[in-house]
Amino acid sequence: MTAGFAPAQSALWAVIGDAAVRLAGAGVPSPRHDAEELAAHCLGLRRARLQAAPFFSAEQFATFSAMVARRELREPLQHILGTAPFRHLELAVGPGVFIPRPETEVLVDAVLAAATQGALVVDLCAGSGAIALSIAHERPDTVVHAVERDEAAFAWLARNAAAAGGTVSVHLADAADALAALDGAVDVVASNPPYLPDGLSLEPEVAAFDPAVALWGGTDGLDMVRVVSAAAARLLRPGGFLAIEHDDTHGVEAPALLAATDHWTDIADHNDFTGRPRFVTARRAG
Ligand SMILES: C[S@@+](CC[C@H](N)C(=O)[O-])C[C@H]1O[C@@H](n2cnc3c(N)ncnc32)[C@H](O)[C@@H]1O
Repeated sequence: MTAGFAPAQSALWAVIGDAAVRLAGAGVPSPRHDAEELAAHCLGLRRARLQAAPFFSAEQFATFSAMVARRELREPLQHILGTAPFRHLELAVGPGVFIPRPETEVLVDAVLAAATQGALVVDLCAGSGAIALSIAHERPDTVVHAVERDEAAFAWLARNAAAAGGTVSVHLADAADALAALDGAVDVVASNPPYLPDGLSLEPEVAAFDPAVALWGGTDGLDMVRVVSAAAARLLRPGGFLAIEHDDTHGVEAPALLAATDHWTDIADHNDFTGRPRFVTARRAG
């Protein structure tokens, strides 16, 4: 790997390799990737630019070593870096907010396809604002509201929304009764609610760092899917579009839950990019 590199480059890759071995020993699922991301972060570069990077300064090396030690303790990479990528955005994340996952990016594609010019869009259970801010970023013609109940998560949402220039209106509220003034007028409701069934065992990064309020959806994992679908039935105009992310074991249950009411038509379930059932869409019956 290092053959033919300048000495500084060889030294850099040796240090990254050592870090990757340490992370692998700690059970980190993607040790090489994470070691490279941390090195690139400390050098102020994108990971793809590491091939041409110099060795660390003394200060950068100390920072890198400290960050690797944190990752060894299974602190999420995104918390250490302070940001998480989501579609075209880099969102600020840290303690108190759910780290946005790539699986959710596919739900945004469905929402963008359904949102007509000038659409009024509501993101229920917004967390860092990944869904709401992506929609506002990629479709600046839409009017987007983001609802989050948890105060710690809301602080991150407000911070990300402010950094994006205030394109999304943020609301500290419970999804169940939020935005009553918009009842019957909303064009699109999108949501990635907490949806894990009780009793699942989780990776250390998730169990110790994602807030419990962002993860658990009651005994069957569907409590908040029920809350969100009821709230969406209240908010949406006839023909309005709903998209709710769900656990990959709920590809049958989540659509059935919508079909059990007379609120919805065109109910369909969709896979994420890994091919697993991930979100349900429907239209508000008229
Ligand atoms: C799985 S996280 C999703 C965050 C973000 N939408 C995303 O995709 O990254 C679920 C979020 O719902 C919030 N939440 C839980 N119960 C809620 C409720 N009743 N009303 C509003 N937000 C709620 C949690 O605090 C958490 O931020």
